[in-house]
This record gives sequence, structure tokens and C-alpha cells, in this order.
Amino acid sequence: MKTNNANVQYKSFLRDRRKRIDALLNRYLQKITQDSPKNLAKAMRYSVLGGGKRIRSLLIYAVGEIYKTDLKVLDAPAVAIEMIHSFSLIHDDLPAMDDDSLRRGKPTCHIAFDEATAILAGDALAIGAFQVLSEAKNLSAEKKAKMIKVLAEASGPRGMAGGQYIDLHAEGKKLSVDKLEQMYLLKTGVLIGAAIKLGALASDISGQKELKHLEQFALNIGLAFQIQDDVLNIESNATRLGKNVGTDEEHNKFTYPALVGMSAAKAKIKNLWSKAEKSLQQLKLENSILQLLTTSIMQRDF
Ligand code: IPE
Ligand code: IPE
Ligand code: MG
Ligand code: MG
Repeated sequence: MKTNNANVQYKSFLRDRRKRIDALLNRYLQKITQDSPKNLAKAMRYSVLGGGKRIRSLLIYAVGEIYKTDLKVLDAPAVAIEMIHSFSLIHDDLPAMDDDSLRRGKPTCHIAFDEATAILAGDALAIGAFQVLSEAKNLSAEKKAKMIKVLAEASGPRGMAGGQYIDLHAEGKKLSVDKLEQMYLLKTGVLIGAAIKLGALASDISGQKELKHLEQFALNIGLAFQIQDDVLNIESNATRLGKNVGTDEEHNKFTYPALVGMSAAKAKIKNLWSKAEKSLQQLKLENSILQLLTTSIMQRDF
């Protein structure tokens, strides 16, 4: 694809899919909170809607774009992964975890509501995500079961929850670079990896080599994404980021930049990005929507 043409297509993809995922989240939230306590539903909607870059769902749609997958098949996993992600953010901000007061440019859920409501809103979103997948109309029973497994593994003790546990219990302690990378992969990388796997499952990709390249690609951008998050926690500002800065240092977190220095951290991001680009080259996906999305994720400043 010619670069100019590809950029125009990418812009329209972003506009369209962002609108789509926001409308779907609104609709599915309405559905799963029907007749539930009003304030709990309000807290869930408050945390999910009206903010967030939607990177994980966009990755699902970007994989679908490569294989011309029917959007209706991508919708349920896109909604489910954003619900899981929002749940992880609500809990991440709780006083017992990162104790943060600002998220997506607004007071965090436990500040806007109360702690018990935030815990329950997180729980309800996590469980709601699996309800959405299990009830999806456009997916076969086999596909749903596979997707549920992918999402459960990525968010459970051997994925996000495990990574968050290691993160919190490492506060004030210096991990080795290897251990730190392992923790980043667990708390952030595997859910980004799950987005790619869900897109691949929806698109019926069965070629082992193809899947391997896609998975490797996802883990590299997943790791880079968390290192970039730590860089921004030092270099950005709350207005741009929509969350407080300087908080990692306040909590004595030995993040990647704290451990190896800012320039080495930035060099690592570049190195991971170029590895991710190589995987895309192997798949002949230069100038694809997925490649352009990767570039904008890697160059983000918020
Ligand atoms: C923030 O994720 C938490 C991490 C895993 C680093 P995002 O930067 O994707 O958060 P939103 O969804 O855009 O708010
Ligand atoms: C967030 O990591 C990871 C998850 C929520 C799973 P951080 O604690 O570093 O992310 P932010 O900076 O609060 O978004
Ligand atoms: Mg955290
Ligand atoms: Mg945090």
C-alpha cells in the first residue's frame, strides 16, 4: 500500500473503531447492569466510558483488518478486553495498591464513589467481561470457549493479577532487569498479547508460524508499552497524561528508568519497537493498519 493512502485509511480506521468501541461499551454496560444497584452501575460506567486510548480493542480490530474479519466477530472480544483493562485500572488505583487519585483525567473510582464501590465495580467489570464473551451472538461455542481461556489466562495469576502482585510486593526493592521485565510482561504485556490472540482467533488464523510472529510482536510492544508508561510517569504532566506523575518515585518503585537510567530505558523501547517491526515485516505487514497503530502506540506521549 502507498504510504499516503495507508495513512488516510489508518485515520479513518481510528475514527471509526473508536466510535464503535465506545458505543458498544455503552450498550453492553447497559445490558449487564440492567436491574443492578444504580450506584454500582454508575461507578462501572464512570470508569469505562469517556476516556482511555482503547489500545487493546484497537489492536483486536487491527488484526481483524489484516484478514478482513467481519467486525461483528471482533466486537465481543473488543468489549471484553476493555472491561478487563478498566477493572485492572480501578483496582490498580485503590489505596491498598497504587493509591492514585487521578485516572483518565478524572478522580479515580474510589475517590468519585467510595472504596467498597470501586472494588465491586472492578469485580463486576471483570466478571461482566466473561459474560459478554459467553453471550456473544456472532461467535461459535468453540471460539467463545477459546477466547474465554485466552482472556482468563492473561488476566489471572499467571498474567495481570500475578504481575500486579509482584509489582506491589517489590516496592522499595531492586529487582534484576530480567525479573523486572518478567513482571512487566505479566502485568501489562500478556493482556496486550491477548488482544492479538483474540484478533487471531476471531480471524481463524491457524498457521503456527504466523501466530508465533504475531505473539512475539505483541509481547515486544507490551513490554515497551509498560516501559513507556514509566518514562511518562517521570517526563510527562498530569494534564497531558490524565493521571498523576512522579508517583512511581513516591512509592519507591524501581521502575525500568529508575533501574537502568532514562536513556537506557528509551533505548530499550526503541529496540523492542524495532523487533516488533521485524515481526511485522516477516508477516509482510509493512504499512498495514497494525503497523501504523504500532507506530502511534510507540510514539505516544500520553
Ligand atoms: C495504562 O494503560 C496502564 C498500563 C497497563 C500501563 P493505558 O495507557 O492503555 O490506559 P488507558 O486505557 O489509555 O487509560
Ligand atoms: C498498571 O501499571 C498495570 C495494570 C493496571 C495492570 P501502572 O500502575 O504502572 O499503570 P498506571 O501508570 O497506574 O496507569
Ligand atoms: Mg500499578
Ligand atoms: Mg498505577
